[in-house]
Amino acid sequence: MTDTIQPLDVSGVTGAGGRGDVPPAVRMYEMLYSSLVSQLLIAVAELGVADAVGEAPTHVDDLAKATDSDPHALYRALRALASVGVFTEVVPRHFALTPLARTLRSDVPGSMRSLARYVGLPERQRSFGALAHSLRTGKPSFDHVHGQDWWSYFAAHPELASMFNSAMSSMARMVNGATLESYDLSDVRTLVDVGGGKGTLVATLLERYQEMHAVVFDLPRVVPEAAAHLDAAGVSGRVRCVGGNFLESVPAGGDTYVLSWTIHDWDDEDSVTILRNIRDVLPPDGRLIIIDEVLPEGDVPHFGKFEDIVMLTLLTGQVRTEAEFITLFERAGLRHVETRPTSSPTSVIVAVRD
Ligand SMILES: C[S@@+](CC[C@H](N)C(=O)[O-])C[C@H]1O[C@@H](n2cnc3c(N)ncnc32)[C@H](O)[C@@H]1O
Repeated sequence: MTDTIQPLDVSGVTGAGGRGDVPPAVRMYEMLYSSLVSQLLIAVAELGVADAVGEAPTHVDDLAKATDSDPHALYRALRALASVGVFTEVVPRHFALTPLARTLRSDVPGSMRSLARYVGLPERQRSFGALAHSLRTGKPSFDHVHGQDWWSYFAAHPELASMFNSAMSSMARMVNGATLESYDLSDVRTLVDVGGGKGTLVATLLERYQEMHAVVFDLPRVVPEAAAHLDAAGVSGRVRCVGGNFLESVPAGGDTYVLSWTIHDWDDEDSVTILRNIRDVLPPDGRLIIIDEVLPEGDVPHFGKFEDIVMLTLLTGQVRTEAEFITLFERAGLRHVETRPTSSPTSVIVAVRD
């Protein structure tokens, strides 16, 4: 297994110019095919290949047997992924995990396997296939393809909703550590996580700060999953899980309100409604903390510029610049205090009552 992995940049997300020595047509060929990296990751996550790799490099025939796949097809998939730093072919046809490949295991902290499976959902893939519809109309191609909006579709398909909640937990785990490193929440008495999903952030916080209490607020159908997760984390004595609709109201009683990876799901009108509902229950000395991507202006690369396209395709939301956040705050009766970058793609954006 190699420790120094330098994945080939085939994703097209690392800069406007790309590799200077590559002719533009070649670079374009690579960029047009770059979604195959994602498709391969989804496929091997689905098969559970990373789970089948042992501590010693494992022969591809054994991996194929364990995952019920065709040995030569699997070899070609792993050879391609190894060329971008996911798995490594240590000796011919024997593969080991790299740090990137390890994130596709089910049993590791920070596992991204549920995210990979969610990204591979046919409903998502079909929507991205119709992206030009979103560019023409400014409306989600998801609605065009499926005849209903994202949240209604998930309400009607509970098994997909549960997969979505688990994928969001993976994302939350990815950003939580970075958030807590860069922003001190030790003085919070009662934190209300608005759109808190399965309660991943709250579980992390309550484990770390023994005096803190919390409310996880989400759609009624998500509450049982949150309650089970918080119970398993051993913190259920200090947390209430409340079901409701943040477009109507938000539970009172917190000194700190959090919107983590949530406001970007909503257009400006709905975002102002959510922020106003929080402002209505925010005490004079309270604060709102948004954990989300903040886009740099111009050509500056930032992964959020691609997450923004996910919002354009699936939902009515958008990833925002700091100036756009400030405008939302002003419309909702809030005042921006600071934006703090973290080591993850998300920043911590703090606002108080105006
Ligand atoms: C992108 S997820 C983020 C979840 C969580 N903050 C995290 O980081 O894991 C957005 C959350 O908003 C919730 N949500 C969507 N519409 C809602 C509504 N009208 N009222 C309350 N919660 C809602 C979803 O169920 C979901 O858990």
